[in-house]
Amino acid sequence: MMKKNKIALVGCGNIGKRHLAILDASSSFEIVGICDLKPDVLASQAKLYNYFKTFLNYQEMLKKVNADIVAICTPHALHREMSIEALQSGFDVLCEKPMAMNESQCKEMNKVQKQTNQNLWVVHQNRYNVPIKYTKEAIDLGKLGNIFMVQCNVVWNRNNEYYDQSSWRGNKSTEGGALYTQASHFVDLLTWWFGNVSKAQAKVDTKNHSIEIEDCGISNLTFSSGVIGSLLWTTNAYSKNYEGSITIISEKGTIKIGGRYLNQIDYWDVEDYPLPENIDFSDKPNTYDKYKGSSSNHDKLYDEISKYYRGQPFDLVSGEEAMKTSQAIELIYKSAG
Ligand SMILES: NC(=O)c1ccc[n+]([C@@H]2O[C@H](COP(=O)([O-])OP(=O)(O)OC[C@H]3O[C@@H](n4cnc5c(N)ncnc54)[C@H](O)[C@@H]3O)[C@@H](O)[C@H]2O)c1
Repeated sequence: MMKKNKIALVGCGNIGKRHLAILDASSSFEIVGICDLKPDVLASQAKLYNYFKTFLNYQEMLKKVNADIVAICTPHALHREMSIEALQSGFDVLCEKPMAMNESQCKEMNKVQKQTNQNLWVVHQNRYNVPIKYTKEAIDLGKLGNIFMVQCNVVWNRNNEYYDQSSWRGNKSTEGGALYTQASHFVDLLTWWFGNVSKAQAKVDTKNHSIEIEDCGISNLTFSSGVIGSLLWTTNAYSKNYEGSITIISEKGTIKIGGRYLNQIDYWDVEDYPLPENIDFSDKPNTYDKYKGSSSNHDKLYDEISKYYRGQPFDLVSGEEAMKTSQAIELIYKSAG
């Protein structure tokens, strides 16, 4: 039987629970400890899975568990401190997105990663979406020729209940803005494909929620590769998520990745590079007997981590790479004044 890697997790909220479900179902990982400030949340997870060691205090968990890696699933503002503490305690770290609240926090985390020689990875599971893999392949193979422009739309719905659910949401100091929460996966893909954002010119507003941060924004972008683009993001879509899309306009092709979560290809017209037939684009929900999640590629991400521990080639987003998203987001907000 394959040796399982030991993992501890902090933050058993919306996304933490999804990690736990995936890890529990995985043959590659063993959960050796979970931590949350809320005793009732810990108790319900411990009851559900029946074998967890639980901790109300993060530092205590770091002292007591014997783990290879710690997953950080707490709100954004804790990512820097908790990642650094775990790295300095001798663990690899998988940190939920966004990596941190700004570039300087990311730099600190990367510095500690280098000093400790532990791994620091950031969750950007949309990179494993099927349409994203085909598009990345076309870009890497030079099939698009000169890339001119990109248009990215994140037209999602988050109602007041969502913002009321957790006290960190909606606040400047603890959430930062919707680019960190809803749009960071999209910004990650744009910077991955087109380079750092070198210029931005944004306008943000709060139109439909009682929150400190914006619920809509639009920005022009210039990337280091010379590609120009636009990003529109909002949590004001009526009733439900409407669209998460990226359109690429280039010398040798036009591609629109669409659906609600970049889960389908709406348009693909690339010279000498047609899409294969019968691609399975269906975004399946993660269903386990103890938990049913919405569509997610966290399972693919954990497969990649498992490959790393087995000495196989792996595909994960490092802290250095994830910092580009924070740089871009900071620049966009600064340009909005
Ligand atoms: N990759 C994705 O697609 C994705 C999806 C959702 C959320 N996220 C990210 O995950 C993070 C958490 O989001 P969420 O929606 O699950 O939030 P949430 O509010 O539902 O859960 C956060 C949990 O952390 C716990 N917590 C807070 N402070 C703590 C501390 N000091 N010690 C231990 N536990 C503590 C809270 O009690 C809560 O249970 C955010 O940074 C968010 O951006 C990523």
